[in-house]
Amino acid sequence: MKKMTSKELRTAWIDFYKKRGHVDIGSTSLIGDGTTGVLFNVAGMQPLMPYLLGKEHPQGKRLCNIQGCVRTNDIDSVGDSSHVTFFEMMGSWSLGDYFKEERTKWSYELLTEVFELPRERLAATVFAGNDSVPRDTDTAILREKSGFLKENIFYLPKEDNWWELERGPCGPDSEMFYITDTKPCGPDCNPSCDCGHYVEIGNDVFMQYERVGNSEYTLLEKKNVDTGWGFERILAFLNTNGDVYLTDLFEGAIKILEEASGKKYQENEDSTYSMRIIADHIRTSVMLLGDEQHLVPSNVGAGYILRRLIRRAVRHAKKLNISTDIFNKIAVYFIDDVYGEFYKELVNSKEFILSELNKEIQKFEKTLNSGMKEFDKLVNELSKKGITKIDGATSFKLYDTYGFPLELTEELASELGFTVDVDEFNQKFKEHQEKSRSTAGEFKGGLASTGIVETKYHTATHLLNAALKKIIDKNIHQMGSNINSERMRFDFNCDHKLTEEEKKEVEDLVNQWIREDLEVTKEYMKKEDAIKSGAECMFIEKYPDEVSVYSIGKISKELCGGPHVSRTGELGKFVIKKEESSSSGVRRIKAILIEK
Ligand code: SER
Repeated sequence: MKKMTSKELRTAWIDFYKKRGHVDIGSTSLIGDGTTGVLFNVAGMQPLMPYLLGKEHPQGKRLCNIQGCVRTNDIDSVGDSSHVTFFEMMGSWSLGDYFKEERTKWSYELLTEVFELPRERLAATVFAGNDSVPRDTDTAILREKSGFLKENIFYLPKEDNWWELERGPCGPDSEMFYITDTKPCGPDCNPSCDCGHYVEIGNDVFMQYERVGNSEYTLLEKKNVDTGWGFERILAFLNTNGDVYLTDLFEGAIKILEEASGKKYQENEDSTYSMRIIADHIRTSVMLLGDEQHLVPSNVGAGYILRRLIRRAVRHAKKLNISTDIFNKIAVYFIDDVYGEFYKELVNSKEFILSELNKEIQKFEKTLNSGMKEFDKLVNELSKKGITKIDGATSFKLYDTYGFPLELTEELASELGFTVDVDEFNQKFKEHQEKSRSTAGEFKGGLASTGIVETKYHTATHLLNAALKKIIDKNIHQMGSNINSERMRFDFNCDHKLTEEEKKEVEDLVNQWIREDLEVTKEYMKKEDAIKSGAECMFIEKYPDEVSVYSIGKISKELCGGPHVSRTGELGKFVIKKEESSSSGVRRIKAILIEK
């Protein structure tokens, strides 16, 4: 097995493919473009969806790269030696060019010649087939022909050997594994088992289908190959017996944490767990803040995930008994020593990253201690009564007054064998929203008797939100809104004062949509479906299961209680009166509607 530094691994991957006619297309933003219903890029193929569906790629039919991805679905597993929230995927693609023969041959060459893994340590899985798609015997034969031992090739069902997202290109896949020294867990142990005997190295997907409905597929005109191998995983496995935090990607961060805490990594379970969480979460936060889209912590969508990551890291610093001052050092390490060379945007925005990180840490630290006291007091009281469930009013108070993301309260609770009543939390959250809306003179989810002028302003708010996204930055979200019969006020995240031209363009676009007299429609949907459909939504987790979604033509779709006008033509003329700062990173627009 070949020892390699992270830099050597990057070069080895790209060189291998360049020699085989591929073009390195580089990495793109980590943040999803809103078309796939997920907040982040979760796989290297995601930015290539249109090309896998048949559109011609300007750089040809053979592509490769190393793409940053973020997956937070198993954030709770972070803390062990292998799970991470940011990771890089080494990818290569054939867009209607070569297919299974070349792919299997090259995978074997990579495994045995580049990574120098012995043949008898390699295993592969292939798709076992089902009612609609036949067993992938071609790939099994080719894997064997390339060099895999027949007894190490397994046919597995769709749950294991089919790759797809909600929609888009998909198909049977064939994964490759390394057989470790860990004993198999039993006679039926196979690569789908997570006992540790098999460690996944990479995945070759043969994309011949498009998923067009939940279980509806159509055949693609061209057959593609989508290859994705986990960068961190391979690095760990080649160099550090599988521990990603011991690789050169993390070693500087772990060293800073060891020095600050006076504890050695792996000296004890709890401190190792906290060190890994801090290292992982700060790394992901740096990558998101320094992304070309410059995500900032907020209470909405992807920004809320970023907030949770930073706040969770702060909490683990307290557990380790170290000052969060070192987060800055860790961030600088990731930017200067590890990623800056490959992610130029990090270097250009270093100051921004450090200052946003700091701001969020300080915001949370202000209330963390008193929040923890409140939490401890409560848990004590409940314990005395023999209760182990934290009620909604308390978890909401921790959220609202002390800035504890619900997930943090849940984590603290579970450490003590407590649970949190999430439904009750959601209920409190909703009540609070309704109350603050009515105090601010806004609408109570459509129930209040609302004047026609206010209704118009409400629809104009959705138009303004959509126009800001289109003209200024697709990552803009509503941070607050206030309406009365005289004017509307709209707060949104934005890192700069809008220029006169930008204001004019936004205003013009809203007026164009008003002129187009777009229809405003309302539908009730399951929350999940609403989110999948790309509807704008604050606090994803906090909505009830059934939500109402308002769409304006094709330009806006938001979860909202209403009420709204039925066509945009009713609004008159939209005029921006003022654009100013509301708080740090948040701008405020005051606008009016006038009769035409
Ligand atoms: N799309 C596949 C995966 O994410 C291979 O790139 O595993």
